[in-house]
Amino acid sequence: MNTKEVPSAPIGIYDSGVGGLTVLRAVRVLLPGEDLIYLADQAKVPYGSRPLVEVRQLVEGAARFLMEQGAKLIVIACNTASAAGLRHWRELFPDYPLVGMEPAVKPAAEQTLSGKVGVLATPSTFQGEMYASVVERFAQDVQLFEATCPGLVRQIERGYLTTPKTRRILEEAILPMMEQGVDTLVMGCTHFPFVIPLIKQISGQGMRVIDPAPAVARQVERVLEQHELLNLQQRPGTIRYFTSGDPQRLANLLPKLTGDEAAVKGLTWQGDQLQLRPDA
Ligand code: DGL
Repeated sequence: MNTKEVPSAPIGIYDSGVGGLTVLRAVRVLLPGEDLIYLADQAKVPYGSRPLVEVRQLVEGAARFLMEQGAKLIVIACNTASAAGLRHWRELFPDYPLVGMEPAVKPAAEQTLSGKVGVLATPSTFQGEMYASVVERFAQDVQLFEATCPGLVRQIERGYLTTPKTRRILEEAILPMMEQGVDTLVMGCTHFPFVIPLIKQISGQGMRVIDPAPAVARQVERVLEQHELLNLQQRPGTIRYFTSGDPQRLANLLPKLTGDEAAVKGLTWQGDQLQLRPDA
């Protein structure tokens, strides 16, 4: 492991809303000394029903904001944003440390016993070429069942993790898959790990549920190591939160979703740029 001390630049973690907090939790567990910035583009959530070209512009604006805040590495903690903007971003900034996401079909294909895997993700994620490539590379020997879970991202954005409506959306997705013999479910949207307890209630404990967050956190560690950017300080890292939506609403939800109380700063889109609100 690299032991070089570097000034404490933060890791930027970005999602359309609260979904990326599932990744933030995993990064914090693995790299507790790192300072983090979390950016939720809640003025535009959900991304999953927007055209990919539109999401690509949003990804670029969000990533530029995080760069301006001094982020030493950016995590696109959103499958939809990664599907839309990862390649574009790598072309723009080939040397900038970046970690994106793709639906975790590979581990699911390795773990399924029935050969039947369910993938829960947004419509845009399923439409992107990244998903097509994942299927081609890793799902040759398994049968995939896909569900977009309409309305689920909005429910989770409101903090409705166990309400009857949330349950109904999940049942509509999962019960038909179970009838087909699906034994492994991929969380192909970073919002969805928040409802894993409910998924397990519906499916029974026998269902394997794949949350990619720990693997993403390990990838963050690897990329930081490669760039000699790991922060090995002993003090606990800090977290700063930003949203383009309602800061107070996000602040109210944080204890439920992360166990943390924290202030949230408001951002506003000016054209294709994210800027701090004057009152923030
Ligand atoms: N969290 C995002 C993802 O992983 C999607 C949520 C949205 O539709 O905005 O795909």
